[in-house]
Amino acid sequence: MSPNLGNKEVELDKATMIVSETDAKGNIIYANDDFCKIAGYTKGELIGKPHNMVRNSFMPKAAFKDLWETVKQGNTWNGIVVNATANGGYYWVNATVFQSKTVSGDIRYVSVRTKPTKQEINWAIENYPTLDKKMGL
Ligand SMILES: Cc1cc2nc3c(=O)[nH]c(=O)nc-3n(C[C@H](O)[C@H](O)[C@H](O)COP(=O)(O)O)c2cc1C
Repeated sequence: MSPNLGNKEVELDKATMIVSETDAKGNIIYANDDFCKIAGYTKGELIGKPHNMVRNSFMPKAAFKDLWETVKQGNTWNGIVVNATANGGYYWVNATVFQSKTVSGDIRYVSVRTKPTKQEINWAIENYPTLDKKMGL
């Protein structure tokens, strides 16, 4: 059975690269054109908002707990994420998230996302529904 992820899938193409940058708290401070195009928001609507504005309720809490623990330690997180679009659709990405520092030493986080494989999506569809319980969340 396929899960309810939203009303319509927006598929990335191979050349799509969705990039965003957040401050230390996860508020969006940069979004590229592909992010706007796929998610259906203008830059003005994204900048200054918490990154959970594109959260899809299918995503387990455990994935984001792991993401934040990893990047706060200065390590790189890679995972499969499904996000929500502005008009109730959804899009799957393979995300790589890492810490970055400004010249003055302020902490930032960057996420770069490309098209995932069918196998990666199927793996997430199979495993995410039970992940929080497995992780005690
Ligand atoms: C650089 C960066 C990019 C992120 N990108 C996403 C994203 O695309 N989708 C998403 O749901 N959460 C993303 N997050 C995680 C959110 O900050 C948040 O933890 C998550 O949406 C869960 O929301 P909640 O903490 O309110 O439960 C990102 C975090 C960082 C640091």
